[in-house]
Amino acid sequence: MVFFMVFWLEYDVVHSYTPQHYIVGGEEGWDPVITMQGWAQGKDFHAGDVLEFIYDQKFDVAIVDKEGHDTCTVSDKSIQFFDGDDNITLAFGPNYFICSFPDICAIGLQLAINATAPPPSV
Ligand SMILES: *[C@@H]1O[C@H](CO)[C@@H](O)[C@H](O)[C@H]1NC(C)=O
Ligand SMILES: *[C@@H]1O[C@H](CO)[C@@H](O)[C@H](O)[C@H]1NC(C)=O
Repeated sequence: MVFFMVFWLEYDVVHSYTPQHYIVGGEEGWDPVITMQGWAQGKDFHAGDVLEFIYDQKFDVAIVDKEGHDTCTVSDKSIQFFDGDDNITLAFGPNYFICSFPDICAIGLQLAINATAPPPSV
């Protein structure tokens, strides 16, 4: 019985993390009026957290690899979103997002996030 209770408690702790929901860019949204990396600074992102990208449809959001992020380019491996409101769940480890317009990306509409494992409890 005691063994069972200890097991149950551990199970409960491990599964008690509630994924966080972030509006990328806060009130500005996914927009080059602020740099997205500046918005992300100091935030502690975990795998499973959801980023909501809200943007003017003259922009877009693309999930890219590190090279795509560093060079502001999309490739055929990128996943692009155009809806103006997209919820994207963070994968464990590095996550890279850019706007596919190189000039807009270069002035700050790009984001690199390293999502760590969800904490055992909050
Ligand atoms: C994204 O998630 C938020 C919070 O759950 C929800 O309010 C919003 O409608 C979702 N947007 C889309 C496009 O699914
Ligand atoms: C991501 O975070 C983990 C855990 O803190 C760390 O080990 C890893 O080096 C980081 N990766 C990058 C690309 O920053």
